[in-house]
Amino acid sequence: MKIIQAADYQGMCRKAANILSAQVILFPNSVLGLATGSTPLGVYQQLAEWYRKGDIDFSRVKTVNLDEYRGLAPTHEQSYRNYMNVNFFDKVNIVKENTNTPDGLATDTEAECARYEALISSLGGVDLQLLGIGHNGHIGFNEPDEAFDKITHCVKLNQRTLEANARFFSSMDDVPKYAYSMGIKTIMQARKILLVVNGGDKADILHAALTGPVTPRVPGSILQLHPDVTVVADEKALARFDLV
Ligand code: PGA
Repeated sequence: MKIIQAADYQGMCRKAANILSAQVILFPNSVLGLATGSTPLGVYQQLAEWYRKGDIDFSRVKTVNLDEYRGLAPTHEQSYRNYMNVNFFDKVNIVKENTNTPDGLATDTEAECARYEALISSLGGVDLQLLGIGHNGHIGFNEPDEAFDKITHCVKLNQRTLEANARFFSSMDDVPKYAYSMGIKTIMQARKILLVVNGGDKADILHAALTGPVTPRVPGSILQLHPDVTVVADEKALARFDLV
């Protein structure tokens, strides 16, 4: 595992965008696994800026997103499909048909999980998976205590995650209670993983995930067992590490 420290959020975003950019330049038909949340926003912004300058071509890239709320239409402002369109896909020359998220409106939950997992396989798997980590250690929506061997599944979101999401919805009742998520097993099958983390509020969980016991109670701890993980984090998130 490589840990790369950036001075601040902006620096973290630029370094992570550089890694994604190098992947796309070296392998223009890469399958990128993408993440939502507040952490990667600046990474997408940076990539879009380099695209506008003519430095990156996304025309052959394919993407699969980690997760999507069950019950939200792709056009819902808070759906992850909408987040990806607004923050990234609409700003670069990616072919929309080559971008994938679980279908929040699927009527058959199990069939949707199976479809998504099969889709990832049919693309040949993920070349580079971008990840954030939640305050409780979740990656994707794999909450603490999930077994490690899950593939794409439908998750009942825990109280802490619901509360963290509440700020995006008009009332707690509107916050989706379930989400589709790639499982830990799906994530671990990605050839390379790029974890981005910023802020002092993530310092404890980042330290626990990368140096503590590998346990489903800290889902991100599984990354210790992946052969090709790069962590790009700011100084505050790395406050508990002794880096030289
Ligand atoms: P955040 O979420 O980037 O909004 O902090 C990270 C995550 O929950 O994976």
